Amino acid sequence: MRALASARQLAWEAAERLENAGVPEPVASAEVLLAELLGVRRSELAFYPESLTREQAALYEAWVSRRLEREPVQRILGYAYFRNLRLDLDEHALIPRPDTESVVDAALEVVDRGGGFSRVLDVGTGSGVIAVSIAQERPSCEVHATDQSEGALRIARRNAARAGTKVQFHRADLARGLDVLEGCVDLLVSNPPYVRSADIPKLTPEVRDWDPRAALDGGPDGLGFYRRIFAEAGPLLADGADVVLEVGDGQAEDVLELGRRAGYAPLGTRVDLTGTPRSGLLRSGTRR
Ligand SMILES: C[S@@+](CC[C@H](N)C(=O)[O-])C[C@H]1O[C@@H](n2cnc3c(N)ncnc32)[C@H](O)[C@@H]1O
Repeated sequence: MRALASARQLAWEAAERLENAGVPEPVASAEVLLAELLGVRRSELAFYPESLTREQAALYEAWVSRRLEREPVQRILGYAYFRNLRLDLDEHALIPRPDTESVVDAALEVVDRGGGFSRVLDVGTGSGVIAVSIAQERPSCEVHATDQSEGALRIARRNAARAGTKVQFHRADLARGLDVLEGCVDLLVSNPPYVRSADIPKLTPEVRDWDPRAALDGGPDGLGFYRRIFAEAGPLLADGADVVLEVGDGQAEDVLELGRRAGYAPLGTRVDLTGTPRSGLLRSGTRR
């Protein structure tokens, strides 16, 4: 019988299998799965002193098999890291993307400019990632969040509690029916579904087959949810409220223009870590 392999050797063999099968980021996939399984940092794998137990090796083999089927690492683990958070995930919630960290930065910039207190509304919260990040990093804010998916809200509530934050979650179609917030939202932030319906079949299997379709599908031109947010959010917003919207690649100008036509003042864009415009910033008009 073959002796139990070292962590480094197992990860190397797994990466090779993943690469041969055409799985994206084979080395990162193999190493992150093994590091999480062993409870060590990825950089520590090379120095992991012991062989894996048979149980650990069997679990790792099961996880690598799932990755070979193009299941994303975060779905295999059941959680994802984002800023200071470890967020639980299930099939109801989009995997939080690193791009969205820059949207949180843009929202925090707005909060800080306003003096630290804001009543914030995160529309389409998914795992709760934006709302929980803002509540954790700016505890002086009053944070509300909506989703139409009860499953997503269940996970988001759990993530908020785990982070020790207080976020008020509402099940809603965008922000409909939130009369309690009428006229008092200082900052609306959203990462709405923005993929063109016809592009969904062309997405990588990791996204197409594993993220909820309701989290992706932005309608025929990908801009349907932006139109609805601009058309429907007005009554909730305080005079001069800020709006920070995550946008897909190449959508920033279109989204700002849609906002302008709906009566919002475009303030500009913020880029993500790759330098791609990722947030559109706008300000609502005054009612008086
Ligand atoms: C792109 S995901 C973003 C999730 C999370 N905010 C993030 O950044 O990872 C869009 C979210 O909007 C929700 N959603 C889709 N249609 C909605 C609607 N009509 N009303 C409320 N939420 C909706 C989806 O369930 C999904 O959680």
